[in-house]
Amino acid sequence: MILAPLRGVTTRCFRETFAAVIREAGFREAVAPFVSAMPGFDPLAGRELGGGPDAGGIAVTPQFIGKDPAALRSCLARIRSAGYGTADLNCGCPFPMVRNKGRGSGLLRSPDVLRRMLEVGCEVMGAGKFSVKARLGVERPDELLSLMPVLNEFPLRFLTVHARTARQMYGGAVDTAALEAVRAAAKMPVVANGDLDWSGGTGMVGRSFIRYLGTRGDIGDLLRRYIDASAAELCGDRPVLGRIKELVSYWRDLPQWRRRWDLVKICRSADEMRALI
Ligand SMILES: Cc1cc2nc3c(=O)[nH]c(=O)nc-3n(C[C@H](O)[C@H](O)[C@H](O)COP(=O)(O)O)c2cc1C
Repeated sequence: MILAPLRGVTTRCFRETFAAVIREAGFREAVAPFVSAMPGFDPLAGRELGGGPDAGGIAVTPQFIGKDPAALRSCLARIRSAGYGTADLNCGCPFPMVRNKGRGSGLLRSPDVLRRMLEVGCEVMGAGKFSVKARLGVERPDELLSLMPVLNEFPLRFLTVHARTARQMYGGAVDTAALEAVRAAAKMPVVANGDLDWSGGTGMVGRSFIRYLGTRGDIGDLLRRYIDASAAELCGDRPVLGRIKELVSYWRDLPQWRRRWDLVKICRSADEMRALI
């Protein structure tokens, strides 16, 4: 089971703080939230990837978003020099600002650019070391399927399919039949994603595991450690509070959090937050 990248949630700091719980749940690998593959950008400058290929005993696969093959090449060379053996390409980000510029799920609409990105990925990382995470399509659930001849040209490590279109964003039903059609056409292993329960132990899983954390008896202690680790990493209370509030928002419908969530969301300092939880 692979821990899904959730930008702002499954950060390196999160994965280190919750490492024991993540491992016990059956995760052996995490795809890190995306960083941009832009010209001149050093992916090792930030803590997300600068911290190295292992976070708390969970292997890290860096993920890149972009449409510039030369920028991807230099980013991949950098992470390889830091010991990373695998990398992933984001073909799933659904936000119109991103996809309309041909990045994220927008790559599904530019097969020639996609091909050049995959060429670079497989060449720099090596055969079986570069993976792709994609939506079923931008508007229609058969767009990825029509692209399979392009993806099948490359020795990809795996293809993760979030079984929704970009238009669906993060809601609406997952289309398992469309995912299975991709699997049948794929030469590489296909990893299922989208609304899977973490207790199933397979596929790529994000939100159900995050929701589960809120039900744990030791979550207060874990959260206090996360506040401390975040305070050591970030500058000032504001970003720390933003991070904790985003995490706790996944628990707002749990009976034990419903009332506390009302207080958490208006909390104004890290000390207040420590006392609350
Ligand atoms: C807040 C948030 C941030 C996300 N960030 C990323 C990201 O950086 N890269 C990516 O490929 N997918 C990202 N996703 C998509 C998830 O990895 C995953 O595909 C999606 O949540 C469906 O899986 P789940 O139902 O198990 O959560 C994000 C999703 C959410 C809700």
